[in-house]
Amino acid sequence: MSDELLSMFQNKEGEYLSGEVISKELNVSRTAVWKKIRKLEEQGYRFEASRKLGYKLVAVPDRLSAAALLRSLTTERFARRLHLHEAVDSTQTVLRALAEDGAPEGTLVIAEQQLQGRGRMGRSWESPKGKGIWMSLLLRPNLAIHFSPQLTLLIAVALCRSLRKSTGLPIGIKWPNDLLVDGRKISGILLESTAEEERLNYILAGIGISVNLEEQDYPAELMDKAVSLRMLVGRKLDRTDIIVQFMKELEELYDLYLQEGFAPIRSLWEALAVSLGQRVVLTTPQGIIEGIPVGLEENGALLVKLDDGQLKPFFSAEMGMPNSVS
Ligand code: BTN
Repeated sequence: MSDELLSMFQNKEGEYLSGEVISKELNVSRTAVWKKIRKLEEQGYRFEASRKLGYKLVAVPDRLSAAALLRSLTTERFARRLHLHEAVDSTQTVLRALAEDGAPEGTLVIAEQQLQGRGRMGRSWESPKGKGIWMSLLLRPNLAIHFSPQLTLLIAVALCRSLRKSTGLPIGIKWPNDLLVDGRKISGILLESTAEEERLNYILAGIGISVNLEEQDYPAELMDKAVSLRMLVGRKLDRTDIIVQFMKELEELYDLYLQEGFAPIRSLWEALAVSLGQRVVLTTPQGIIEGIPVGLEENGALLVKLDDGQLKPFFSAEMGMPNSVS
């Protein structure tokens, strides 16, 4: 009945429908109509109710649609196989199962909500319903495993460039692949890969973008560390547009990388990086190290100038500013 009820409202856009008319049309009691309206409100629909006139549909929930995404995509391969879920534990887990079943490169899993979203370094990743972009893309590059740090940086560059275009915000990259605006994180990337005999088998590129979260969606302790695009631009953003732009940018840069190697990506990354030339603290499995990042090595490692003048490469660590937790 909820589909029929919604079509009635959609056919009479902006108009009131009385409880009596609805109950006659759908052949149910007026109490049943009222209960259905309540149920739709719980799903994010909003109605205006008037004693005299009945109900008017004033807002529909912000839901992604696979059909709308597929219509807007301009990519050749990326996101052409699209799996859109209402709620999953983690899009990484769903994509891993598809990858094991032989899904092709470019397969994309998106969820409106993640119940156990995962972040880097074993952290959890809050993924509230309908407010962000929580997705995982399957890559199957024919490369040796030691190239995977380059892919991490490539994805950050593509996301940073596309989000800059979509929002006009001065987004920067904090090594290796967090996206920040004025020191607050708007997006995170988690790469998980499998390899056989030193060759990459597949990569699950997990991307979380805080698009339309509001202040109340953040716990107090995160307020100075994280922010959403909506809070920065002051309006709700279209998640479909953001995904479409990003997939285009990523496919182009990925193809460029496969043809020309890391050099062009390296320059793009360095131009967007926020931490080059500033003193940072790196938390590594070997201990805490302070120094000044100066750029990337050809293999994707971050080169850090230590206090004794030595240049040391890092592939993975947690970066923070001196006297702060990252
Ligand atoms: C980080 O900055 O710590 C990385 C966050 C990555 C979050 C995304 S959301 C979609 C995908 N599924 C997950 O469980 N995690 C990644």
